[in-house]
Amino acid sequence: MSRLVSVLNGPNLDLLGRREPAIYGYETLADVERDCRALAGELGLELRFLQSNREYEIIDWVHEAREDAAGIVINAAAFTHTSVAILDALNAYEGLVFEVHISNVHQREEFRHHSFLSARADGVIVGCGTQGYQFALRRIARLLESQAEAGKGEKASFS
Ligand code: DQA
Repeated sequence: MSRLVSVLNGPNLDLLGRREPAIYGYETLADVERDCRALAGELGLELRFLQSNREYEIIDWVHEAREDAAGIVINAAAFTHTSVAILDALNAYEGLVFEVHISNVHQREEFRHHSFLSARADGVIVGCGTQGYQFALRRIARLLESQAEAGKGEKASFS
């Protein structure tokens, strides 16, 4: 069973730490990746950590995850509020999906209140800062364990 999680980051998150720090804080995306990798190590997860400013690249990475990843953590940034195409890609993905937003989008402009991706997400974490990524990884690890246990149960009941 795969233990790989793809962490996908959308547009302008490459500027994290320098971009509107009053909203997004001073941690860079490299800091977030470092913390995610440390936690993934503890949780026994493998990590693919990616960022793009291009919608098609995020779609291609969701397709790639169909082949090998047990879960996706996605902060699609502004594409969250616009992209039916990323929703469609996620709908074609069968693993776990967690949507993360660093800021509390519900306290911000009206246009940030709607997410196309939440309809597909197994969970949504907003307003917890960059820690939200870690909450998502912990949740995925927990759910994978439950799935593995359930799998054992099924095998046992058929044997
Ligand atoms: C964001 C919230 C989005 O509305 C915004 O466009 C972003 C970042 C967040 O992490 O809080 O770029 O996804």
